[in-house]
Amino acid sequence: MLEEKKNRDGFGSKLGVIAAAAGSAIGLGNIYRFPCELGENGGAAFLLVYLAVVLILGVPVMLSELVLGRNSQSNAVGAFKKLAPKTAWPIVGYMGVLCGFLILAFYSTVSGWTLEYIMKSVTNDFAGKDLKTIEQGFSDFHNMGWRNVMWQGVFLLLTAFVVYKGVQKGIEKYTKILMPMLLIILIVLGVRSATLPGAADGLRFLFNPDFSKLTGEVVISALGQGFFSLSMGMGVLITYGSYVNKNDRLASTALSVTLADTFVAILAGIVIFPAAFSFGIKPSAGMGLVFNTLPMIFDSMAGGYVICIVFFVLLAIAALTSTISLLEVIVAYISEEFHISREKATVIGALATFALGIFASLSLVQDTPFMLGGKTLFDSLDFVSSTILLPLGGLLIVIFVGWKFGKKSFLDELTNEGTIKSPLRNVIFFIVKYLAPLAIMVIFVSGFMS
Ligand code: PHE
Repeated sequence: MLEEKKNRDGFGSKLGVIAAAAGSAIGLGNIYRFPCELGENGGAAFLLVYLAVVLILGVPVMLSELVLGRNSQSNAVGAFKKLAPKTAWPIVGYMGVLCGFLILAFYSTVSGWTLEYIMKSVTNDFAGKDLKTIEQGFSDFHNMGWRNVMWQGVFLLLTAFVVYKGVQKGIEKYTKILMPMLLIILIVLGVRSATLPGAADGLRFLFNPDFSKLTGEVVISALGQGFFSLSMGMGVLITYGSYVNKNDRLASTALSVTLADTFVAILAGIVIFPAAFSFGIKPSAGMGLVFNTLPMIFDSMAGGYVICIVFFVLLAIAALTSTISLLEVIVAYISEEFHISREKATVIGALATFALGIFASLSLVQDTPFMLGGKTLFDSLDFVSSTILLPLGGLLIVIFVGWKFGKKSFLDELTNEGTIKSPLRNVIFFIVKYLAPLAIMVIFVSGFMS
């Protein structure tokens, strides 16, 4: 037991940390959610709010999580147990594990779709079809509940395979290969899309700010999207932080991950919007935009057959590096707190998630009985986790770091016991202690009153 503790698994290199954390951050949220939010909330005006949110609030909140993880060398629950024993703070950790579980349950549904769409593109299913027909295919597929469940199961199996292998031999090894591939393909697709006829309208839509759309609701949705996209507020970064080497620089890791995540989200917009405008599709068409618009566009491009396959493979990869991090939060918690092996914890975590996930998938079938609070179970899980639990978790985490963990411990961890000079360290702590809690609270409350 002691032996095991001393040799706690961890990341082998700084690049590995960034690949894993950026892999968690960059996911379906960047590719199917962000462009839709952008489309619905006023294009570049939303982008500006989003950038402000992630740079001013996101980086310090991310740092708070990484600091807690590395300092405590524990999973999300264990971190609070260690740093604040005999208090109610571990509830924040439990909330995080619960949130990860809820997200993984519906996220794995969408992840499974990417596998179905790899198959569709391999069999050239989109060839010659117009948008209506492709859209019909998408909703027909939703109605095949058990087919969704099957792909979801396969996806969770892939996720479990990587997590089962461990941090360095599993998570780090695979994310280090997969993330650069994703980036290259997105850049190629972005260039292709931005040079289509009529693409300029899409780019204008993306970058021309429409400030009249900026309501309180839009700000709260930028916050929600930011937390979701950076995988913050639920313990992924506490858990990954606990595997970071003591000599690594946390601040530059947090900044790199935030910038990479935002860059990819904008890039996804550059892939989707010019293409959508070029084919006369309304940008607020929802996530069908990714599953319908892109296949149709690829079909009309030279070499599109291959590009379409590669795109969905990479979408699957983006999803996979995120589901890995979600499952890791659950697995680290189960294995460390209940003292069972990683292997067993992986099986338990994956099966438990699948059990709930099945209902999330089946709730998308027409006339489904699986409704909750007037929404499909799928939408409810999404709403509860990303609109309520993530910001709330983030709020409690910064309050904990700012007011309980304290400035000295925070700065010691941030500067590696004073060995690195971090010019912004006081500003960062000020944000963590005052600005972030206040901003998250104001946005949260005003969101509920509107
Ligand atoms: N950040 C991921 C995405 O944008 C989703 C995610 C949220 C992953 C929370 C882990 C934790 O798709």
